[in-house]
This record gives sequence, C-alpha cells and structure tokens, in this order.
Amino acid sequence: MTKPLPLRLGVNIDHVATLRNARGGRRPDPVRAALAAIEAGADGITAHLREDRRHIRDEDMVRLKAEISKPLNFEMAATPDMVEIALATRPHAVCLVPERREELTTEGGLDVAGQHNALAPVIARFNDAGVRVSLFIAADVRQIEIAAKLRAPVIELHTGAWCDAIEDGDTAKAASEWQRIVKGAALAKSAGLEVHAGHGLDYATAETIAALPEIMELNIGYYMIGEALFVGLGETVRAMRAAMVRGRGLLTASA
Ligand code: PXP
Repeated sequence: MTKPLPLRLGVNIDHVATLRNARGGRRPDPVRAALAAIEAGADGITAHLREDRRHIRDEDMVRLKAEISKPLNFEMAATPDMVEIALATRPHAVCLVPERREELTTEGGLDVAGQHNALAPVIARFNDAGVRVSLFIAADVRQIEIAAKLRAPVIELHTGAWCDAIEDGDTAKAASEWQRIVKGAALAKSAGLEVHAGHGLDYATAETIAALPEIMELNIGYYMIGEALFVGLGETVRAMRAAMVRGRGLLTASA
C-alpha cells in the first residue's frame, strides 16, 4: 500500500478579526494570530475578505502577505473589485466562495455549473498570474465535473452539511453527507483536481476526514479560534494537527 501524502492544515483567522472589530480597535491582531498558528505548526493561513469587510479588512491582507512565512489563501467572492484586490495582493492561492450579505457564514458551495461563464475568465486570470485557484463547492458530481472543465487546479469540498448533521445528532443525514464527501473526493481526484475540504470541522471531524487519502488540505477556523480561548491558539493548532495525523494513520510522524 502506498503511504498517504501528508495533509496540510490551513488556519482561518477571520474570527480573530471579528473579535477585534467588536471594539473597533487593533486588538486582538489577526496577523499576530497567524504568526502564532504558524509557530505552532500551521501549514498556511486562510483569510476571507468579504465584500462587507465584517471581519478581515484590506490592510489585514496586505500585512498577512508581507509578514507571514507560509502560504496565504485569500478567500473571496469572484467579483470584479475583489479580483483586482487579490491580484494586487498576490497571495499563494485564492479560494472562490459564494457570498450573501445576510449570511452568518459561507452557507453553501459555489454554483460552478450555473456560473460557468462568469467564473471562466476569473479562473483564467488567476491561472495566468500564477495564483492557485480553488473552488469551494459541495461534493456534488455535476459541480465537480464542471470545476474540472473550468481548469481550476483545486476544489475545496464544503463539509458544513456533514458537520452540522453530526452536531444535530442526525445520524442518517451525517452518514449520507459523509458518503457524498467520500465519493466526491474520489471523483475529483480522478478528474485531476487537488482536493481540499473545510467548514465546520472540529477535532473529531478533522480526524475522520483525514483518513481520505485524496484530501491534501483542511481549512479550519471557527472551532479553533473558540478552543483557543480556553487553551491558547498554539495548543489548539498542535491538537488539531495531532488529530489529523491520527486520522491519516501517520501515527509515527511528528505532529
Ligand atoms: N473553507 C472555506 C471556503 C470557508 O468559507 C470557511 C469559512 O470561512 C472555512 C473553510 C472555515 O470554516 P470554519 O470557520 O467553520 O472552520
């Protein structure tokens, strides 16, 4: 059996900015959180510059790009303004997500099938600029097939419905959502896509999903920032990495 490839942890620091913005000042500083997460073993940092700037702000992205030593994953809606900001920031990667102003968080996946014509030129611009594009989609056969046709190198599977079903104790829904993720990851890999996953993950779900060898990266934020209130961000990153290593079956690897 071939050894599974390592699984990267991208730490999403949006909600450090949510807390900062609650008082309108500079603290807590999301860049400091990014540096602490990297120090503790994060493989990259994710931040979502929303159109309403409710958490991360433009200057946070500029500072993250300048100050962190690991890849920056710039999450964004595929709007003309945001494309220009991302191209000027030159992050390692962008993750294109749907955005609705009224939503509390990114509720569903991007409808790449319905928005094919609008997304194609955006993906082409990032490809030309050497910025890796990821499409945040549900683990749905049609969405995955269109994502591959759009020539995006990466998809991120939306794990929110699976995680919510587990939290709600809805075991039947959790089982069917899990099967969708398992099949979607295999289909995407066979279509030549690099597969990432994220949304709503905690230690237990990260450990479970780490067992899927097709998945190369998990992006996790809200749960980790909440845990960090009790044990500190460094300890949270170390515990998350340990859960991922256990799930991956790399029990001898250092966490
Ligand atoms: N991946 C994407 C594309 C997201 O939009 C989010 C939420 O910002 C996450 C991962 C992280 O989700 P959570 O904060 O629930 O861990």
